[in-house]
Amino acid sequence: MDAARDNRVLIFDTTLRDGEQAPGCSMTLGEKLRVAAALRDLRVDVIEAGFPAASPGDFAAVQAIAREIEGPVICGLARCHENDIRKAWEALREAPRRRIHVFVATSEIHREYKLHMAKEEIIRRAVESVHMARELTDEVEFSAEDASRTDPVYLSEVVAAVIEAGASVINIPDTVGYTVPAEFHSLFTHLRDHVPGIDQVILSVHCHDDLGMAVANSLAAVSAGARQVECTINGIGERAGNCSLEEVVMALRTRQEHFGLETGVDSRRLYPTSRLVASVTGMQVPRNKAIVGENAFAHEAGIHQHGMLKNAATYEIMRPEDVGLSRSSLVLGKHSGRHAFRERVQQLGFALDEEQLNQAFEAFKKLADRKKEMFDADIEAIIMNTGPGHGGPWTLDELHITAGTGAIAAAAVRLRHADGRAVDEAAVGDGPVEAAFKALERASGIELELINFEVRSVTVGEDAQGQVTVTVTHDGHNQRGHGVSTDIVEAGARAYLEVINRVMRQREAGIVPPAPAERINTP
Ligand code: KIV
Ligand code: ZN
Repeated sequence: MDAARDNRVLIFDTTLRDGEQAPGCSMTLGEKLRVAAALRDLRVDVIEAGFPAASPGDFAAVQAIAREIEGPVICGLARCHENDIRKAWEALREAPRRRIHVFVATSEIHREYKLHMAKEEIIRRAVESVHMARELTDEVEFSAEDASRTDPVYLSEVVAAVIEAGASVINIPDTVGYTVPAEFHSLFTHLRDHVPGIDQVILSVHCHDDLGMAVANSLAAVSAGARQVECTINGIGERAGNCSLEEVVMALRTRQEHFGLETGVDSRRLYPTSRLVASVTGMQVPRNKAIVGENAFAHEAGIHQHGMLKNAATYEIMRPEDVGLSRSSLVLGKHSGRHAFRERVQQLGFALDEEQLNQAFEAFKKLADRKKEMFDADIEAIIMNTGPGHGGPWTLDELHITAGTGAIAAAAVRLRHADGRAVDEAAVGDGPVEAAFKALERASGIELELINFEVRSVTVGEDAQGQVTVTVTHDGHNQRGHGVSTDIVEAGARAYLEVINRVMRQREAGIVPPAPAERINTP
């Protein structure tokens, strides 16, 4: 077998591991399960679900995904330590298809300053770890961290040794986003020319975007024989991020005649998956981001529009439908019925149960009364407001604000508990947002400390909805909440209430999220 001659490129998604460990991108267990289900529907080949030894929370998330998500291979990361490998196996063992991914740094700078290990010791540890992982499971991936800054002769020795030990996937990371396409192409060619047995394994590439070349470098590696690309939705990840999944998939697809390769990804799920990840992480997608940015298919210039009307291919190299965007994002109106709403929700990639659909439809009707035009983004925002993850116990029944220049702002709220009782409270503050947050704290009895308040417009126009993301601290843990409304103060109150509800549910379930210091991060 020569894996590189195969024309299928495997898509290895690491949104839940490398993506999630980026500052501000952490997800709850429920959010990770939603993202994993979306990745399965997107038909990625491998989901790297986390780093089980990093914290009890990471372990629980990998285990839950291994138990619940069928289809893709579920992978767990481990350093070359016995305890990490055992934890990875424990978390993964119930997955029908599973992979242990072990890694160790190989570059001189990492060997000397981080690991304090000689070259031979690194090889010994890598070989022992691959052996150990192979005793537990058949599929073992090995990564040489900082491979792009490792001497290619030494890297070849390491790779040959771990192949001999039983690794069936060899990953070559550009950990610090330092390489350039021609150089990386040469490195992969060198490995293919010098490592015995390399044609019997899958060569994989893992790039970071520090110089903005993660996608270009990944494609260069693919041209030189890599048949697995490690990437994340929206390119989220440490520092400048990882290789963006949607960009690499659409590059291979759009330039099929150049690469002669294909992936198994259902590209029509790219946009909905991107929106889901943006929503649960609060990491917004820039409007001009390739493939999934709001402007990616917008043509403003008159000359472009004229050409487009005659033949869309004049200025369009991909069809918006192919990535899951409707050509017209103006889709539903005040008179649209439940059936049309359900269809659009499904097309956007959301799987709601009957009760969630009813709630979302009710919210849609209310919004349609306030807003002239309804866009896809409005529907997504409604689902984020009412969908899974927005369980009570409290709902916001009423919010009244009095504010003005030079006047103290005051807020009155009525919260309704799932058990039927209503609580009314009022508070004053330096502004309407602060007053509303204080009133919510009084009504629910939960106190939070606000760290960050971000507003973003969901669509365009005077009546556009605003999405507010709040980051707060409670008991030393950071939590994020999102809320959407045509009124920014109400959106903020909904975001704040989302966190209050989560804190209450965690208290009831006796869950204490791990403190940041208890978690080990990987490169
Ligand atoms: O960037 C990196 O080197 C990694 C490895 C653990 C694969 O994330
Ligand atoms: Zn990485």
